[in-house]
Amino acid sequence: MKKVSASILSADFSRLADEVKNVEKAGADLIHFDIMDGHFVPNLTFGPMVVSSLRDKTKLPFDVHLMVENPENYFEALERGGAGYVTVQVEASLHLQRILCHIRERGMKSGAALNPATPISFLDYVMDDLDLILIMSVNPGFGAQEFIPAVLTKIKEVRQRIDKSGRNILLSVDGGLHPETSTAVIKAGADILVAGSSIFGSKDYARAIASISGESRANRNGLGSNM
Ligand code: DX5
Ligand code: ZN
Repeated sequence: MKKVSASILSADFSRLADEVKNVEKAGADLIHFDIMDGHFVPNLTFGPMVVSSLRDKTKLPFDVHLMVENPENYFEALERGGAGYVTVQVEASLHLQRILCHIRERGMKSGAALNPATPISFLDYVMDDLDLILIMSVNPGFGAQEFIPAVLTKIKEVRQRIDKSGRNILLSVDGGLHPETSTAVIKAGADILVAGSSIFGSKDYARAIASISGESRANRNGLGSNM
C-alpha cells in the first residue's frame, strides 16, 4: 500500500494539533513538515519548535523537509523534536555525503530532495547514505502548485535505480498531488505521496487520503499501515 504523508503547510495553523490528529484518524501514514527559511526558497514557514510542539499529539512518524540553506544547523533541534525522516535539498547541501551521515548519526533517517530541474546524477555517490529520495514535482516554496509532468520520467528512473541497487530506500514524491496526478506517480513507482492542499483543502480528509493513495477508504482505515 502506498503511504501518504500529509503536508501541514496547507493545514489551519491556528489549530495545528487538531489538524494533525484529524489526518492521523483519516489514515495518513506520516506528517510532512515543510521548513522554509526565506533564502533557499522565497517563503518562510516555521522551524523545529513547531515539530517538537506536535510530537506528543500523534503517533505518526514525522517527515521533515528542509528547504533551507545550511540544513545541518537544524539537525540537533530536529532530533530533540522527534523527527523521523530528515530530508535536505541537494542543491543546498554543499557536502551532501557528510550531511546525510550526520542525520543518521543522530538516529534519524536521511533523505535527499531533488528540485524538478535537478538531475538524478546528484545521487550517484550517496546511495549508501540514503533512506529516502524525495522527488519534487513542483518548484519548492509554496503549496497548491501545479504538478510538473516531466518529473514522471525522473520518478521512473529513480525507481529503477533504487531497485537495481537492492537497497531499502523509499521513493517519495512531493507537490501538486491529487487523485488525478497521483495515479501516474504511483504507476511510475513512488512509495510515498506527499500531499498538502488536496488533503487539508478538502472537506473529507479520509476520502482525500484514500483517493490520493489509490486505495479504497475502507482498505486504508480498516487495515491501517505500518511504517
Ligand atoms: C512545496 C512543499 C510541499 C507542499 C505540497 O514546497 O515542499 O510539501 O506542501 O503542497 P501541495 O500538495 O499543495 O502541492
Ligand atoms: Zn515538502
